[in-house]
Amino acid sequence: MPVLNFIMKLTKPTAQNRTASSRPTVNTVHRIGGGGMAMDRKALWALCALVSCVAVAGVIALAVGVLRDDPVPRATVLPAPRFHIVLIAQERGNPYWQKVQAGAEAAARERNAFIEVRGPVQTDIEEHVKLLDMAIASRVDGIITQALTEKAFAPVINKAREKGIPVITIDTDAPATKRLAYVGSDNYRAGVQAGQALIRATGGKATVGVITGSFEAENMIQRLKGFRDAVKHAPGIRVVAVESSNISRIYAAERAERMLKDHPDLTALVGTSALDGLGIAEVLEKRGLAGRVTVIAFDDLAETLAYIEKGVITATVVQAPYAMGYRSVHLLVDALEGKPVPPLTYTDTYILTRDTLALHRAAASRESEADRP
Ligand code: BGC
Repeated sequence: MPVLNFIMKLTKPTAQNRTASSRPTVNTVHRIGGGGMAMDRKALWALCALVSCVAVAGVIALAVGVLRDDPVPRATVLPAPRFHIVLIAQERGNPYWQKVQAGAEAAARERNAFIEVRGPVQTDIEEHVKLLDMAIASRVDGIITQALTEKAFAPVINKAREKGIPVITIDTDAPATKRLAYVGSDNYRAGVQAGQALIRATGGKATVGVITGSFEAENMIQRLKGFRDAVKHAPGIRVVAVESSNISRIYAAERAERMLKDHPDLTALVGTSALDGLGIAEVLEKRGLAGRVTVIAFDDLAETLAYIEKGVITATVVQAPYAMGYRSVHLLVDALEGKPVPPLTYTDTYILTRDTLALHRAAASRESEADRP
């Protein structure tokens, strides 16, 4: 055994320590074990050094082995995204726009594009247009945006196209601009559906207050127009107040509160943007009016569904925000690849009530499993 031999060599008295061992002192001579073998301090240090070396070598060997079979995944090298797309939402933190974002991100993954989502914290046309300008200045490959008003958005959308950047509008269209395509609801039709739902729920007799997301935004204008046109067919329906929430849930609640005070005979409330119905429902619950006032809302946010289940919201017009994000990215990438793109893609809108809630939830969970609109 070479190691043993080496140790024996180290422990064998040298000429120098033979002299020392002839004049032993308590301090210089140590007895190791009971074998009567004497070892001086130098030899002991050498032995310790050897043991340490063996230990360090073992640890290194072990580490190399562990690293070799390391189950931790190394960074996967993905191909660089082919296109940089910017999506500009009406409000960044709004749950409706988060659904749009989820759809856009899913499509971007499928098409190997990089999607950057921007938007004002609170709806603000000026800031929205500024973000569009910044996207153009940074020469992105394509832009997806809501076009709240044709007047404010046409110059910047047209500028993008002149610089060779295709623009797809979603949710709210600006057909007179140079946008490449629109993906979203037929907002007029969605308004008609809300009116029809109200007629159905009230038997054509109601005193109504409407809370709209905005008096300026084209989608809201179209929905209100559709709603008014639909209820014209029911002479028993009277619209006595229309107010704006600026798409804010808090303002919607405030407006609902005020309407109920100003019009104690109100029997129905309609909210035309995603958070309006939630503000209305909150106020009705607080005032003990839940279930006694008909409520027609927009969109199928989780809270809206919960209020439908409880009977606070009577019906809602479901839109397809996920599909808007998903399809708009696919179309934009098609266009960037030189493929033809249809100018109009209307996503589905339909009425949801408590009767169809279970069906709707089942369909929605199947869709999210498949990561599809
Ligand atoms: C509208 C969006 C709006 C959102 C606000 C939706 O119903 O389609 O344009 O931004 O409500 O919460």
